[in-house]
Amino acid sequence: MAEPLRVGLAGLGTVGSAVAGMLVRERAAIAERAGRAIEVVAYASKDPPKDNTLDLTKLRKIDSPVALARDGAIDVFVELMGGEGEPAKGSVEAALGMGRPVVTANKALLARHGVALARLAESKNAELCFEAAVAGGIPIVKTLREGLGGSRIARVYGILNGTCNYILTRMYKERLSFADCLKEAQRLGYAEADPTFDIGGFDTAHKLAILTSLAFGTEVDADAVHVEGIESISLVDLEAADELGYRVKLLGVAQRTEAGIEQRVHPTMVPKGNVIAEIDGVINAVAIDSDTMELTLMGPGAGGAATSSAVVADLMDLAAGRRVASFGRPAVGLVKAPRAPMQRHEGGYYIRLAAVDRPGTAASLESIMQRGRDRRPHGGDDPRSANKPAPVALITYATTEDAVRRALAAIETDGVLAEKPQVIRIEKS
Ligand SMILES: NC(=O)c1ccc[n+]([C@@H]2O[C@H](COP(=O)([O-])OP(=O)(O)OC[C@H]3O[C@@H](n4cnc5c(N)ncnc54)[C@H](OP(=O)(O)O)[C@@H]3O)[C@@H](O)[C@H]2O)c1
Repeated sequence: MAEPLRVGLAGLGTVGSAVAGMLVRERAAIAERAGRAIEVVAYASKDPPKDNTLDLTKLRKIDSPVALARDGAIDVFVELMGGEGEPAKGSVEAALGMGRPVVTANKALLARHGVALARLAESKNAELCFEAAVAGGIPIVKTLREGLGGSRIARVYGILNGTCNYILTRMYKERLSFADCLKEAQRLGYAEADPTFDIGGFDTAHKLAILTSLAFGTEVDADAVHVEGIESISLVDLEAADELGYRVKLLGVAQRTEAGIEQRVHPTMVPKGNVIAEIDGVINAVAIDSDTMELTLMGPGAGGAATSSAVVADLMDLAAGRRVASFGRPAVGLVKAPRAPMQRHEGGYYIRLAAVDRPGTAASLESIMQRGRDRRPHGGDDPRSANKPAPVALITYATTEDAVRRALAAIETDGVLAEKPQVIRIEKS
């Protein structure tokens, strides 16, 4: 059997510790499948590893991740420190710059610098592998990059952040407020002390930007993603969605449209019965619509065990000499995506209006309903008296973002709303 593939591992946190453990535990099976063993020979870590059963005594500790990336005694550099800046960026560049393959789970780094890094890798004839960076254990990168190589993809969408899905699921199932669910998620370790990155939709946006590039052959462009989080979702919306036949999910959606490529992250109503609508808790799911098939993958999007499985799968490709371009095509050929403006987004909308209790309000609300094309007010016609308005939830048929925003601006100008209207886009199955 060939010599083992020697790994330099930077970061021994949740994922790094799990990778080191898996490589020891599964050594024989991995060697049999990949044709050679894979072993960590050196590591960089600030703190003792999270998994204190790891035996590091035979491994070299190198203080600087950049020095580890350049170390002459490793064949591959594995970056599991996280963050789009240093030391992740510099160490990955150092390894690729000398033609050394890199495996990383770092979506933040890839969302910002993925194209430059892939081009650097290509110019040095090295590989940049990142299966674990999107949806943790779900092999979505391989699926888009290799499995669907001959298909023309129209849309990729899914639940890419377990924290948000956990919160929305608990709110709906236990009739809890957003604030209470967030506290619970933090207590259980599903949400960070500063949860902004997750609940604000930014983590989903990073992953979506990577998926967009894989699906459409475009440059990764995180700034082109329209991002809204789940902070404004209330139990009232989840209950209304339920009555109307939907579930609310934070989706990342990348879609080819006539206006260009749409990339958007926002709370979304998904029709019940759609696989994505039924995904509960911290589970992730990604659906792909292509000219050849519709496909949905679901599974754990985070956690040491699942994520390490994806990192090790990348290492096994390298050990076996399987080479694939990082984004499934030559990185020099990745093109800037024609960006579809959000105002031109077309779809159905859920709109909830809370009206002030004064004469004339009902007439004004009636006017907004009439402004939308193909209106279908929830609950049918409601002959509310003019002086007793109530919250109104309505669903539009397909219309444009621009039309909805203009109608809402008009009704807000009328001064009959007690609070900002709630708008949730509907995703067709
Ligand atoms: N956790 C998941 O489920 C998951 C899933 C998919 C992808 N990922 C990605 O995987 C990567 C790692 O995530 P994680 O959850 O394992 O994070 P983590 O538990 O915070 O581990 C990161 C580790 O890197 C260490 N580190 C930071 N700077 C370092 C430096 N200069 N030198 C050496 N070590 C350094 C940290 O040490 P200190 O703690 O002392 O700073 C920590 O032990 C991230 O890019 C993340 O986005 C994670």
